[in-house]
Amino acid sequence: MNTLQGKNILLGITGSIAAYKGADLTRRLREQGANVRVVMTRSATGFITPLTLQALSGQPVHTELMDLDAEAAMGHIELSRWADAIAIAPASADFIARQTAGRADDLLTAICLACQSRIVVAPAMNQHMWANPATQDNVSVLKDRGIQIVGPDQGSQACGDTGPGRMADPDRIVVSIGQLFESGLLSGKQILVSAGPTREPLDPVRYISNRSSGKMGFAIAEAAIEAGAAVTLVTGPVHLETPARVDRIRVETASQMYKVVLDKAASCDIFISAAAVADYRPGLNAVSKIKKGPDELQIKLVRTNDILSAVATLASAPFTVGFAAETDNLLDYARGKMQRKNLDMIVANQVGPSAGFDRDDNELDILWSNGHVHINKNSKKSLARDLVKIISGRIHADDTTENTG
Ligand SMILES: Cc1cc2nc3c(=O)[nH]c(=O)nc-3n(C[C@H](O)[C@H](O)[C@H](O)COP(=O)(O)O)c2cc1C
Repeated sequence: MNTLQGKNILLGITGSIAAYKGADLTRRLREQGANVRVVMTRSATGFITPLTLQALSGQPVHTELMDLDAEAAMGHIELSRWADAIAIAPASADFIARQTAGRADDLLTAICLACQSRIVVAPAMNQHMWANPATQDNVSVLKDRGIQIVGPDQGSQACGDTGPGRMADPDRIVVSIGQLFESGLLSGKQILVSAGPTREPLDPVRYISNRSSGKMGFAIAEAAIEAGAAVTLVTGPVHLETPARVDRIRVETASQMYKVVLDKAASCDIFISAAAVADYRPGLNAVSKIKKGPDELQIKLVRTNDILSAVATLASAPFTVGFAAETDNLLDYARGKMQRKNLDMIVANQVGPSAGFDRDDNELDILWSNGHVHINKNSKKSLARDLVKIISGRIHADDTTENTG
């Protein structure tokens, strides 16, 4: 199972004698299908040239915080948003000290501080530098903050010493980065996710649709894969790449989505309905293009089938999660929808000019019969991981009740 396929990995290389191993690591990450962008500290460029890393990563190498070429001159923010994970390998003692102190006076530390994704650090230094209480204290602070430390390995060192301090083997670092994406929380579960808008045709060239980008549903599918589930993603028309290992079924109309979802739902453990399915469709789908005519034209709309209710009322209904995207009275409406449609959980999100559709971030309220969690504004990828954790918690709580009840 290749968890790194399609993942954006930012590789930070610092001023250690092991910097040359960053070249091998770049190559191995790309072999696993990852997109790699390299950020080097100034000291690192004294050990290995940016050109080498640029050739191996196929991307420009970044070294400067103050970079006029970066879009909006904020390369540290752009790169931190881009990264699904950061690996610092090799990490010098000095870099680890700066990261621990929360410094942001060079590009790599600024990215680490701004980044909300997970970070792996592979220290490499002389054995006494490693054993020094200053370094050991720093490393233990980083561990407490959830940063994963890989290595260092034991062995002969460039300085002639023998002991702990060699950078962990690149293969081991690749495995550790891959493990960041595998929680196993939903391992063995079959998950059906719907995403994107539907298109309801008026005639052969026109349709009624909505502004859903599908980004939330795609992020959920990816997070569910990372959590070990088998995922089927039913999507309306969107321009997004299928996440690795996801089985995607493309539909266009609400009625096509209804058919596919109902066909799959009974054999699934969880259904997450993130699609913005049309509630109404034009009463007739003209065979020929509707011609310009009178000043006013009335189009009769008829209700589409309610996919969510249909799934939630199946005899063997999966754990069913709905979405409520609203402009007003969000929580009241969402709770009402959850009860009315007999859902196990509902995810409420505000939509409007500055929130919701076609953005990379959002904030969510997740509600279930006796619980409510608010998740602050964050990337949809991060929100999706949080949602998956909460769903897993509810499912396992239900399993426990069933077993003990
Ligand atoms: C030849 C040489 C090798 C070095 N190797 C290491 C090393 O392996 N690990 C380390 O922590 N520092 C090493 N240093 C010291 C770092 O390069 C120095 O602390 C530098 O400030 C680190 O900068 P950076 O963390 O911004 O990359 C070495 C220095 C030299 C001159």
